[in-house]
Amino acid sequence: MNIILLGPPGAGKGTQARILVDHKGMVQLSTGDMLREAVAAGTEIGKQAKAVMDAGDLVTDEIVIGIISDRLDQPDVSGGAIFDGFPRTLAQADALSELLAHKGMALDAVVEMRCDDEALIERVVGRFTCAVCGEGYHSTFKTPQKEGVCDKCGSHDFKHRPDDNEDAMRNRLLVYYKETSPLIGYYHAKGALKAVDGTADIDVVTAQIAACLT
Ligand code: AP5
Ligand code: MG
Ligand code: ZN
Repeated sequence: MNIILLGPPGAGKGTQARILVDHKGMVQLSTGDMLREAVAAGTEIGKQAKAVMDAGDLVTDEIVIGIISDRLDQPDVSGGAIFDGFPRTLAQADALSELLAHKGMALDAVVEMRCDDEALIERVVGRFTCAVCGEGYHSTFKTPQKEGVCDKCGSHDFKHRPDDNEDAMRNRLLVYYKETSPLIGYYHAKGALKAVDGTADIDVVTAQIAACLT
């Protein structure tokens, strides 16, 4: 099964994708994570993307489509792909349709995660992740069971994203409404769209997504 998690910044795409990876053995394809890896590694793509990402704007369609195309060539995607943060423009959505058709993969569902803006800002500003395994946390909504220790890997090292501040986040929201929200209509017209209440508790959202995938 191959699915898209579609929703504004902070909607919980990464959180739910990681749960699906653990429960269903699917693979998470997060263009945001891949771009942050490229920035950290100092590659040419990373150098082009860094300032754009920090400001909360979109990197070019060409770059992200190239990244996803390469990733879909790896054998682990046969376990089921979760597209997290891709596609984000109509051009990316068209490119994904072509890539999937070319590779003989289906798109089984597009799950829209609905949230209101103020909740999203609070979530993103409070977010931090494990620097070793990438597990996501929140200073109020999802703290590590033992303070300062990652639940998943035991690391003591955590990090904050440079774009998780209020200014960049307000721009990310604008960019979402302008460039990405038209995909809701696009996938509705294709008959693939399902919606969940992204403001519910994390485990409630997980159950709603599971219901969309049956
Ligand atoms: P990306 O990394 O995709 O960021 P985003 O879309 O802004 O989304 P986030 O990762 O911020 O949110 P999320 O939905 O994953 O939420 P999370 O689960 O972490 O993109 C970053 C940048 O890269 C872009 O701005 C752009 O520059 C570039 N980029 C990436 N893809 C691109 C593309 N395709 N095209 C062009 N440019 C691209 O949850 C957030 C917080 O809330 C966490 O702390 C979590 O613990 C908490 N939380 C989650 N669910 C709940 C809940 N139900 N209740 C309470 N708290 C919750
Ligand atoms: Mg994310
Ligand atoms: Zn960890």
